Amino acid sequence: MNDIIKIEHLVKKFGDLTAVSDVSLSIKEGEIFGLLGPNGAGKTTTINMLLTLLIPTSGKITIAGMDLQKSHAKAKQLMGLMTQETVVEADLTARQNLQLFAELYHIPKQEVGKRIKEALEESDLMAFADKKTGTFSGGMQRRLGLVRAMIQEPKILLLDEPTTGLDVQNRTTMWDRIKELNKDGTTILLTTQYLEEADTLCDRIAIIDHGKVIALGTPSEIKRIAGSGKILEVVVGNNDAQKVVSLLKSKFGIIATAKGEKVTAILEKGKESEFTKISAAIDREKVDVLSIGEHLPTLDDVFIKLTGKGMRDESGEMKGGRMGGRWR
Ligand SMILES: Nc1ncnc2c1ncn2[C@@H]1O[C@H](COP(=O)(O)OP(=O)(O)O)[C@@H](O)[C@H]1O
Ligand SMILES: [Mg+2]
Repeated sequence: MNDIIKIEHLVKKFGDLTAVSDVSLSIKEGEIFGLLGPNGAGKTTTINMLLTLLIPTSGKITIAGMDLQKSHAKAKQLMGLMTQETVVEADLTARQNLQLFAELYHIPKQEVGKRIKEALEESDLMAFADKKTGTFSGGMQRRLGLVRAMIQEPKILLLDEPTTGLDVQNRTTMWDRIKELNKDGTTILLTTQYLEEADTLCDRIAIIDHGKVIALGTPSEIKRIAGSGKILEVVVGNNDAQKVVSLLKSKFGIIATAKGEKVTAILEKGKESEFTKISAAIDREKVDVLSIGEHLPTLDDVFIKLTGKGMRDESGEMKGGRMGGRWR
């Protein structure tokens, strides 16, 4: 497959801060590629450079074989964008939002009416066509944002955190739409803080932290970074976490990390079978165990292994549901 986006040694500095630090990656035509990383990782900055909304400090971007710096007008026609913050213009109606983008992308006058009608139907917003979008729910705004980004039928769709803040139902609807658009031939580059989103939606993922790509590959390739074994997870009460860490070290030679009430450790191949023994040993120590279990590595386990920190939910606490977590 051809590389439709090629990013080479991309750097963006804001004064002393390096927001994007020597990023190189290629996106193949027809794939869904995810940039997964916590808040401040450099995702939006990267997207904005692809659209020439920001000028790179250094590095090179090639879109469909064209050097972005030299052919930016032509390259931009190939890309549709749904931004993270201002998904749609709040003071305009749904129809006006679509008209604005139709003009921006020079859609032929005789085509505009048809495209807008299709977009309103597709987003299930026909009944709200002439209402100001500021009154719309988050889910409605994103639905409109998505069809607006597709109004010029771009080959490449850039989605900056398309589901952040959406409830589960709206998120699932958005995922279905993204999958459909991809099936119809659109290459999709999305950014996300949601592990589950990257895992279920993306053909390939780049995990990014502090402006650097720290892992790149298919979800299963990346998960293998956390080891070929399993992940042990013990949740304790009574401030017993440290007790479990010491026990694992002294009795089993396993290095574990404790975060709040949760202790995690990688059980490398060969040691996975010791789960029963470990479980029994912890029991004997009269640790207040709330839960103990093992699972195959997740993207979060990879992130912990590579950076020493894990995913957090909105309150900053460690999240219980493993794949439901997000970074903030
Ligand atoms: N215009 C700007 N001026 C200064 N710093 C910025 C600007 N835009 C982003 N940053 C900083 O660059 C880093 C990356 O930001 P961003 O790309 O928005 O991250 P993400 O989208 O992954 O949350 C952050 O530390 C952010 O504060
Ligand atoms: Mg962002």
